[in-house]
Amino acid sequence: MKKILITGGAGYIGSHTAVVLAEAGLQPIILDDLSNSSEQVLDRLEEIIGEKPVFYKGDCNDRAIYEQIAQDHEISGVIHFAAYKAVGESTQFPLKYYRNNIGSLLVLLDFMQEKGIKDIVFSSSCTVYGQPEILPVTEETPRQEAESPYGNSKKICEDILVDFIKSKPGMRAIALRYFNPVGAHASAKIGELPNGTPNNLVPYITQTAAGIREKLTVFGDDYDTADGSCVRDFIHVMDLADAHMKALEYLSKQDLDFYDVFNVGTGKGDTVLGVIKTFEKVNELELNYQVGKRRPGDIEKIFADTKKINEVLHWQPSHSLEDSMRDSWNWQKSLS
Ligand code: NAD
Ligand code: UFG
Repeated sequence: MKKILITGGAGYIGSHTAVVLAEAGLQPIILDDLSNSSEQVLDRLEEIIGEKPVFYKGDCNDRAIYEQIAQDHEISGVIHFAAYKAVGESTQFPLKYYRNNIGSLLVLLDFMQEKGIKDIVFSSSCTVYGQPEILPVTEETPRQEAESPYGNSKKICEDILVDFIKSKPGMRAIALRYFNPVGAHASAKIGELPNGTPNNLVPYITQTAAGIREKLTVFGDDYDTADGSCVRDFIHVMDLADAHMKALEYLSKQDLDFYDVFNVGTGKGDTVLGVIKTFEKVNELELNYQVGKRRPGDIEKIFADTKKINEVLHWQPSHSLEDSMRDSWNWQKSLS
């Protein structure tokens, strides 16, 4: 059984990816410092996949933990999710973000090269595009100056991968640029666990519906969009997880010293107000919300051109926005 190291595997996207890998007959090996997740996720994974994943509690910046993992397991490939991801916090503590997000990639690449582990899939973000002039965004759309140290850390990590692969290390890398991950596993046993007050739309919606937050504020309805609210490309986390599986399969068939980048989205833009309406409709409830001021730094509209990932990785999303809103709500309900 092929063993895949998943850094940040106890987190939101990593845990769902562990399920997809296990169901495809691969063995997920999780490395996580639990800085933004809980060990309980491992029990939940056991309930879903029938076996507790091998877990190492440790910091991805610590070379010693990788040595331990390599002694215990022959690793075939790595998916590197581990990172800090709070945009606002990154503007307050940029060094914390650069140290963790960039430092961990450097330590990991050194380790992989030394041990002859060839394949890495890296978590990037559509934040690298800023506000694109032309929509949908393709992978050729120029990246823009980052709006935050978090966004910049993703850009820098992509650049590091490009330069590293150019040096012919005998490895292969794919950066996946995620659009807006939402939803949860259909079992409602795993999902997104935001720390404190959520910054992201969907956890804010579900926490408002659950009565944890009094009301949701829609940040602006005077944008140049169908209903005036911002547009995003909301991708179900299980589809996103599946894209990692497809990326690993594809990498293993490429020549060495290969690098490429793929958008992972649905190709469809939905407005914030449209998401709220869908949430209300599929879950048959009314959400307490008001329209407020624009949020500084927000992108007006962005959604992915998915032609490349559809054709090259043979990946298609299979969940609708309705599925995402139902699964997110079921997950929220399971928490109370
Ligand atoms: P998450 O916080 O739920 O998961 C990240 C996991 O990494 C957490 O379990 C955390 O404890 C762990 N971690 C952080 N630093 C670590 C370290 N030094 N050593 C070991 N473990 C560490 O986040 P997520 O939403 O699952 O995001 C996964 C990846 O996808 C991140 O790289 C993130 O930047 C990227 N991404 C996320 C989104 C999104 O909206 N969720 C969008 C684009 C890109
Ligand atoms: N929004 C609201 N009210 C809220 C929260 C969000 O109206 O309470 C709106 C935002 O203004 C935005 C949309 O919902 O128009 C989506 O906002 P999110 O914060 O959920 O997502 P963003 O697209 O702004 O940013 C997210 C992550 C970033 C990442 C980016 C691209 O937060 O880390 O996606 O992957 F960089």
